[in-house]
Amino acid sequence: MPTATKAIYTGKAKDIFETEDPNVLRAYFRDSATAFNAQKKGEIHDKGKVNATISALLFNLVEQNGIKTHFIKQISENELLIKKVNIIPLEVIVRNIAAGSLCKRLGMKEGKILKAPIVEFSYKKDELNDPLLTRAYIKNALEITDDKTLDYITDLTLKANEIFKDFFLKIGIKVVDFKLEYGFDKDGCLLLADELSPDNFRFWDAKTNEKLDKDRFRQDLGNVEGAYQEMLKRVKEGSKNFSTQSSKPNSQSFSVRVQVLSKSDILDPQGQAVEKALTSMGYKDIKDVKIGKEVVFKIKSESSEKAKTEVNQMCERLLANPVIEDYRIEITG
Ligand SMILES: Nc1ncnc2c1ncn2[C@@H]1O[C@H](COP(=O)(O)OP(=O)(O)OP(=O)(O)O)[C@@H](O)[C@H]1O
Ligand SMILES: [Mg+2]
Repeated sequence: MPTATKAIYTGKAKDIFETEDPNVLRAYFRDSATAFNAQKKGEIHDKGKVNATISALLFNLVEQNGIKTHFIKQISENELLIKKVNIIPLEVIVRNIAAGSLCKRLGMKEGKILKAPIVEFSYKKDELNDPLLTRAYIKNALEITDDKTLDYITDLTLKANEIFKDFFLKIGIKVVDFKLEYGFDKDGCLLLADELSPDNFRFWDAKTNEKLDKDRFRQDLGNVEGAYQEMLKRVKEGSKNFSTQSSKPNSQSFSVRVQVLSKSDILDPQGQAVEKALTSMGYKDIKDVKIGKEVVFKIKSESSEKAKTEVNQMCERLLANPVIEDYRIEITG
């Protein structure tokens, strides 16, 4: 257990502490509950324990399916050790069924099944009420990040959505929508961060559509604590299955070929040397020689789309240097 306990942030639901390791934080999950950007405040008995434990189990679930997260381990009922990240100030929201602000914004009835999952971004800024952002706002007004990172976050988020939908369906729960936060760790790796709990997911019972999340608190539906306990019980039940079965039951093998080349505006001294040599040998009509690398391997995955998401992640993290290099991924079954 870490000894240094300086709180570096006290949020609406958690306290974040430093530890002896500058790259590791301790998140203490409190029972305090807020809604409508803290206009409504209250307590949900044992929410801290429930949310810390559900988060730990769900971070494990997504990690087992190839998504990197900040989660290290649960050190007490209310506390997780997490890798410190620089949080990207975006709330990444996925919607499968219309609810909450989407209904308000579009005048739509709650419960409409969306044609396909929607990923949207809000500005993580309480003072402004976390406004919905367009890509142009993110890139050109706020200058938070670029298209490539947004595409990558969108891919990861849709992948997480498939993992969650699959997991929760087996325990009789519909995943209506949820909010994720991402951040970069000290090595520049993008990690799924914050928490995964009934505070930031909408969960409905698959048979009765009963709400089993923070909407019970927001809408004064009663039995809030019971709903959180029910979700904990079901997530624990579901986790027994995923930890005992092999993580990728229907996986097949794919051949992967990754080509990495320096970007067109980046100087490639090796390419230039070869171009000079070829020209001096009489091959006068060639230009723009680039020397790159090719990486080939086999990967087991449930589908070529999932394999591609994973390989993309590998390129961003290790196989290529995205600042100066472009890469192309080819996957064959
Ligand atoms: N791995 C991490 N490293 C650094 N900060 C983190 C990490 N995971 C989560 N956080 C941040 O810690 C805070 C968690 O506290 P809490 O959820 O109570 O905040 P909040 O009141 O929702 O505040 P905010 O409006 O900033 O999200 C959030 O600001 C969250 O972005
Ligand atoms: Mg929060």
